[in-house]
Amino acid sequence: MVHLRRKIISLASVINQQQQNVRWSSSLKVKDENSVPHVSPKRDSFKYADLSVRFANPHELRPKPATNQLSFGKHFTDHMLKIHYYEALGGWQAPEIMPFENIVLHPAAKVLHYAVELFEGMKAYRGVDGKIRLFRPELNMERMNNSAVRSGLPVFRGDELIKCLTRLINIDQEWVPHSTSSSLYVRPTYIGIEPTLGVGVTDSALLYAILTPVGSYFANSGHNGVSLLADPKYIRAWPGGCGNSKLGSNYGPTIQVQQEAADKGLHQVLWLYGEDHQLTEVGTMNIFMVYINDDGKKELITPPLNGLILPGVVRNSLLAISREWNQYDVSERTITMAEVIQLLSENRVLEMFGAGTACVVSPISYIQFIDQGLHIPTLEQPEPIHEMLKKHLLDIQYGVIPDHPWSLTVQ
Ligand code: COI
Repeated sequence: MVHLRRKIISLASVINQQQQNVRWSSSLKVKDENSVPHVSPKRDSFKYADLSVRFANPHELRPKPATNQLSFGKHFTDHMLKIHYYEALGGWQAPEIMPFENIVLHPAAKVLHYAVELFEGMKAYRGVDGKIRLFRPELNMERMNNSAVRSGLPVFRGDELIKCLTRLINIDQEWVPHSTSSSLYVRPTYIGIEPTLGVGVTDSALLYAILTPVGSYFANSGHNGVSLLADPKYIRAWPGGCGNSKLGSNYGPTIQVQQEAADKGLHQVLWLYGEDHQLTEVGTMNIFMVYINDDGKKELITPPLNGLILPGVVRNSLLAISREWNQYDVSERTITMAEVIQLLSENRVLEMFGAGTACVVSPISYIQFIDQGLHIPTLEQPEPIHEMLKKHLLDIQYGVIPDHPWSLTVQ
């Protein structure tokens, strides 16, 4: 008994010693320079079982916008999830759900200088049966961990984060729109917060998640198809780069090009790569084309996952659905602008569309390629494949197909 007490006391003093090396200031935790090396083994992941919840007070609850007033990522729910990682404290700390709040960062935090940041985009849907569902969240977790590895950030167990997110969505469930044209966008975000300017692996990190009810990604466009600027002087990703990871640093540099497209009256950017002008992505989406192939058959194609392409959850799903339907050919292969122009001249391009979590499935109607304006007849097809795919996807997400294996019921 005495032996056990002594053991507990000595463990407590080790923990205390670790804690003293961290300066606490409200929500800011900064490691002292003279911290001792950690003694406890690194936790390989945080655990849902350790989650604590602090509910917002009634006066802190925010008004919910009307479903028809939603714009993308403008309104946030009442709570958020935070999980810290401190190497000096043994790695992952206990997850916390708390009232939505600003995060405080040291001015030298690595995220602010070297863009050590990654994120995910997921949605929670309120189904026609009233149940709330996530769509294939394990794929987001896999991609998030891949992005973490590419960023030198610690990995974690995806199933533990899914359980924490599920709890957060449950707490803020009234924020999931009662509408099959809206959803609750879930934005897990992961940043390096070590307060030192060395370009090196961060020893502390914050994984947090915020929730925002969303309608259509495109405020006014999309109904008449999306128009694109394809200017080969801009490149989004390159071999050996990180175009296949969901890093904030992939998106920031696209904003000026997006603005250039908007200034020309176009909706989005078609990202090309290489001397042969390979089509890679469109805006923040994966790109697909439906055309008549050399065998005279309809074929759905999308660029292969060759390092330049984000492995989209919707991309993966549309390919899987198409392969299961087996009504047209499906392939993942390189598409060049020369091929698109040739096929257009032979009236063999039927549809082009972008696909992603935020924008769902967005038909493309026009491409401005250098000085050529290309009309894409996506919206003129009698039985467009993109419409069939979109309907099937939404039917799964909104529970019209109730017990689909891709759905995870949250509540
Ligand atoms: C998504 O589709 O979830 C995205 O990541 C797009 C986002 C950058 C707006």
